[in-house]
Amino acid sequence: MTIAYDIDLRPFTTFRTHEAFARQFYVLTREEDAIEFATTYASRLSDILILGGGSNMLITRPVEAVVQVQINHRSIVDETSSHVVIRLGAGEMWHDCVAWAVSQGWAGIEAMALIPGTVGAAPIQNIGAYGQQFSDTCQWIEAVHLPSGRKMTFRAEECRFGYRDSRFKSEWKGSFIITAVGLKLEKRPTTTVHYQELRQALGERPEVTIQEVFECVINLRRSKLPPPTLGNAGSFFKNPIVPGEVALALAARYPSMPMHAYNGSVKLSAGWLIEQCGYKGIRRGDAGVYDRHALVLVNYGNARGKDILSLAREIKHAVQAQFGVELEEEVIIV
Ligand code: EPU
Repeated sequence: MTIAYDIDLRPFTTFRTHEAFARQFYVLTREEDAIEFATTYASRLSDILILGGGSNMLITRPVEAVVQVQINHRSIVDETSSHVVIRLGAGEMWHDCVAWAVSQGWAGIEAMALIPGTVGAAPIQNIGAYGQQFSDTCQWIEAVHLPSGRKMTFRAEECRFGYRDSRFKSEWKGSFIITAVGLKLEKRPTTTVHYQELRQALGERPEVTIQEVFECVINLRRSKLPPPTLGNAGSFFKNPIVPGEVALALAARYPSMPMHAYNGSVKLSAGWLIEQCGYKGIRRGDAGVYDRHALVLVNYGNARGKDILSLAREIKHAVQAQFGVELEEEVIIV
């Protein structure tokens, strides 16, 4: 473990907002470091932020202690003719692991290519894209409890994964350092794509290779999401889920509003709602809404976390006023 002091957090978060810094900065490279941090330091600290790739958070204030998890390893723990179970260290970059799986012919995460951030951050918000989500293949999560230092292994069912949600984001928030995850992938070079946009982009073929899915997702994401050089944290809000009767009333007033059935309710497109309110491409100082995707807020250079937050609040009010729909942040606000 290494400890540094008074660290500017801009290089460690993808939003790169100003005025984000850490008084203490701990880098953990082994599970033993996580246990040592928990038992030796955590009980003395009241304000701890655990950081993976810093790609899904907006920091709006200085933080007492930041913990960066850089525990890197990949291994196969079980293998049959039809599947493989892999164990990934929390510090591994998620996209690199997706690329590795695809290169080995292991299916299950290929549509989640190019999601920024680390493996350890993936379960917290149950990352997802193009019809796949982390929880579809997750078998277990290994974590170290704060401040007892106890090593825990949770089965996927215990993590209460939901749409961009898990117990690590809610009731267990700040209570664990995730150190590794276990995924079960299928040995299957081809797959069937159900997600409409991806299916269309792949030419409506019934069967495609996972390599084709991987490459197609990379192209789709590059065409609409900002380049890594522009500060952002992907989708800023979740797509709102509303009861069927609310959706029906909205559809009557706004016939072109995109809607998808979701677990007995209806999922709306936050990007569409924001665009209709006239916010796509707007700018307030260095805080803005990306001009190719209204769900992505961007930092054009010197925005502070508070600037992004006040733009987000303005957008929430506008969507509420026009559609009566409440947007909820997907990004974790610190
Ligand atoms: N739309 C607009 N205007 C916009 C953007 C979107 O009208 O500026 C409408 C379009 O009708 C479009 C629809 O919204 O068809 C959906 O847009 P998109 O396909 O880009 O997907 P999304 O719902 O905005 C979600 C995830 C993304 C993920 C994509 C692809 C959430 C919050 N976001 O976005 O995840 O990559 O689907 O599966 O669920 C992330 O979580 O950071 C993220 C990027």
